[in-house]
Amino acid sequence: MTLLSRSLILCLPVSLLLAGQAHQPKPTAKSSEPVEDVAAVGRGRSNFQSTCGFCHGNDATGSRAPDLVRSTILNHDENGSLIGPVVHGGRVEKGMPAFPNIKDDQLLDIVAFLHHQANAALKSARVPGDYPLAKLLTGKADLGKAYFEGAGGCNGCHSPTGNLAGIANKYSPVDLQQHMVYPSAKNTRTAVVTTRDGERVEGHVTHDDEFTIALTGDDGWSRSFPRDEVKVEVNDKLAAHRDLMNRYTDADIHNLFAYLETLK
Ligand code: HEC
Ligand code: HEC
Repeated sequence: MTLLSRSLILCLPVSLLLAGQAHQPKPTAKSSEPVEDVAAVGRGRSNFQSTCGFCHGNDATGSRAPDLVRSTILNHDENGSLIGPVVHGGRVEKGMPAFPNIKDDQLLDIVAFLHHQANAALKSARVPGDYPLAKLLTGKADLGKAYFEGAGGCNGCHSPTGNLAGIANKYSPVDLQQHMVYPSAKNTRTAVVTTRDGERVEGHVTHDDEFTIALTGDDGWSRSFPRDEVKVEVNDKLAAHRDLMNRYTDADIHNLFAYLETLK
């Protein structure tokens, strides 16, 4: 196996986990990189998720609003030099609200979080999107199929002739691998809220923190509830994928990927 493909697989789940919400950033081992303020990144993460996550996605890779992690603005930003003005002034006509009252330290925390996400993405995307398929295809499709139908339990939610039909044409090889391990989380969390007087409200979760949960419905309504006054059951359709991330071996990922590449 080449060093490059090995490092892709090794770095993929870890850096994607880092890009996800559950894990605290780890200090990086390379001394040449600037030391990151872990506390600021942590505060920025929760601030970002409650203030910006609804539109830009909790991991900043985009949802209703664009991916910030790969935006040129972030790329060229130094300590908020470019992000600050966008946040303060907004681009109201394009759907980006202004946050004139955001405090400087809050903004700097958010900026630290965004730079952290960009670093994590950079590490996971070390292999370019047009990286030759043959070098990624080190697994065995038949073993992947067996895992898909067996230990992986993938066929409980997916079918090669249904929602994964033609998946290999939908993404470049590198993207397919990323989507397989860490699918984009659009509209994948729903919840049932039961109020004190017994009303049941079900919808997509658009905001969720220790104080408030907000839901929207397919026909456009939206409501929010104080968390301490209602009963909440969250259903996260990607929970299975998070769980899989702890179970996959490198070999499973190679084999599954080889199998999915046959779905043209
Ligand atoms: C209501 C949805 C919404 C919220 C909330 C929101 N944004 Fe945005 N944001 C947008 C949209 C839509 C755009 C794209 C505007 C455009 O096309 O120029 C955008 C653009 C941006 C850009 C420019 C990206 C680029 O490459 O040009 C930055 C930076 C940004 N937002 C940061 C933030 C931050 C930080 C927060 C939280 C403090 C936030 N946004 C909250 C909707 C939102
Ligand atoms: C409990 C349900 C569930 C299980 C089990 C599950 N997934 Fe998923 N998977 C989802 C959901 C939900 C999505 C995101 C919505 C979507 O893209 O269809 C998703 C997305 C994906 C995607 C991206 C699809 C796309 O079009 O972007 C791939 C690839 C994928 N899963 C592969 C797998 C594999 C391989 C397994 C088994 C190792 C697996 N999934 C197990 C629910 C599941």
